[in-house]
Amino acid sequence: MSNSQSEGQRQPAIVILDFGSQYSELIARRVRETEVYSLVMSYSTSADELRQLAPKGIILSGGPSSVYTERAPLCDPNIWDLGIPVLGVCYGMQLMVQQLGGRVEPAIGKAEYGKAPLQVEDPRDLLTNVESGSTMWMSHGDVVRDLPEGFVRLAHTANTPDAAVADHNRQFYGVQFHPEVVHSSHGIALIRNFVYHICGCEPNWTTTAFIEEAIAQVQAQVGQKRVLLALSGGVDSSTLAFLLKKAIGDQLTCMFIDQGFMRKGEPEFLMDFFDRKFNINVEYINARQRFISKLNGIVDPEEKRKIIGTEFIRVFEEESARLGPFDYLAQGTLYPDVIESAGTNVDRKTGERVAVKIKSHHNVGGLPKDLQFKLVEPLRRLFKDEVRKVGRALGLPEEIVRRHPFPGPGLAIRILGEVTDEKLNCLRDADLIVREEIRDAGLYHDIWQAFAVLLPVRSVGVMGDQRTYAWPIVLRCVSSEDGMTADWSRMPDELLERISNRIVNEVRGVNRVVLDITSKPPGTIEWE
Ligand code: XMP
Repeated sequence: MSNSQSEGQRQPAIVILDFGSQYSELIARRVRETEVYSLVMSYSTSADELRQLAPKGIILSGGPSSVYTERAPLCDPNIWDLGIPVLGVCYGMQLMVQQLGGRVEPAIGKAEYGKAPLQVEDPRDLLTNVESGSTMWMSHGDVVRDLPEGFVRLAHTANTPDAAVADHNRQFYGVQFHPEVVHSSHGIALIRNFVYHICGCEPNWTTTAFIEEAIAQVQAQVGQKRVLLALSGGVDSSTLAFLLKKAIGDQLTCMFIDQGFMRKGEPEFLMDFFDRKFNINVEYINARQRFISKLNGIVDPEEKRKIIGTEFIRVFEEESARLGPFDYLAQGTLYPDVIESAGTNVDRKTGERVAVKIKSHHNVGGLPKDLQFKLVEPLRRLFKDEVRKVGRALGLPEEIVRRHPFPGPGLAIRILGEVTDEKLNCLRDADLIVREEIRDAGLYHDIWQAFAVLLPVRSVGVMGDQRTYAWPIVLRCVSSEDGMTADWSRMPDELLERISNRIVNEVRGVNRVVLDITSKPPGTIEWE
């Protein structure tokens, strides 16, 4: 993981050393919710690097490993001499105990998973305002057997004697539970105690402060040069457009490439909104014909994605040359992409140390790395919820700020098999009905994504006296936190009935609606 503060700005007040927990990012987000700036770094960050960075506190994350195994990730032991307060969470606590001379063992018969009431014994500093008996989320197969010298117990649970421990003198704290997850009712109180009272952090990571800093940095980076931004209409590129407009005004050119796979009315909405309403210069590129003709006869999902991706780059290169020259390309890279692409050196499944972590995800990327532009990425320090706050503060309407995610290849991967104009029109109409009805039912914001999928098979139906032989539409609605896992949304029968009736009656070429009731895993959210 990159430890460089190449953005040349704000240093983190809290550093989270990542030992491979699925919750490492969540710890960073929770700390930031207290308005304290935090970054996630590799567990292998050296004590010297940390000394230079001078955070006010360090949090050791959890992780799937056991501290006594050979390939367990360990932190630089010199960290204990930095004089910086440390909070160890789960694996992080066990590591602290082990490195400072205590003992950790497998919790034979006493492993604890799920909610457990925490019995507070010492309500000083770390556990101030953490009610005794409050629920904390446990997930561990090892326990602390002996505490290192200088440590005392702060709290226990039924199965875990040392559920929270501290060396008050050296300001080292450890908790066996996960204060960062929502199931830990007083977890955020504990995090506030650590960052404010123990580390002495100031609440200065605010949306306003971020916007001011980001604008100043972009201005310093770009000077009088021109910047190009490929606008998609999602919350990231839209927020970026607003931020850059504010920072560099007309030096910004946005380009909107219409591949022909957008939802009904979206290209018009986007152009109207950005260009006319907010006076942000957007070049509309109508590439519909190019894209659809490239997909002629293509049925394989991966091939479809590849063709769309390649064509996108071609159009982008041609059009940027035509509109340019540009020195800079703005990209809406977010902090989770930065963390992921840097890798954490720990295998999140086994918890073992690994040299490099290679991950490819379809959401990352888009444009090749070797384009002749320098990058402007002012959102690369932000989590998605922070981007939404920034977007809102800059005046983006809720309609964009809370918009459902929409895949880059758009409706093309929601038409199984070959994509044709006829099927696109059909799917656009069905998709609009789904959106309208979900919105009217007041459920839009409870649902992660709601959309229609068109299947390339025909079934028999009857309409009036006529026999029909037409396509089915699949209704796919899921709830999710981050798109990595998802459950199908439970919806009222009346709503389902309305959607089904309207689609069959109003959309030509469709005579049947079916409901997808598959969670992820094993299904994916999209059908291709
Ligand atoms: P899956 O289908 O993998 O989707 O469960 C997870 C999330 O990613 C979105 N998705 C994409 N986003 N380009 C994107 O920008 C893509 O090719 C792509 N494929 C899936 C999907 O909508 C869901 O939110």
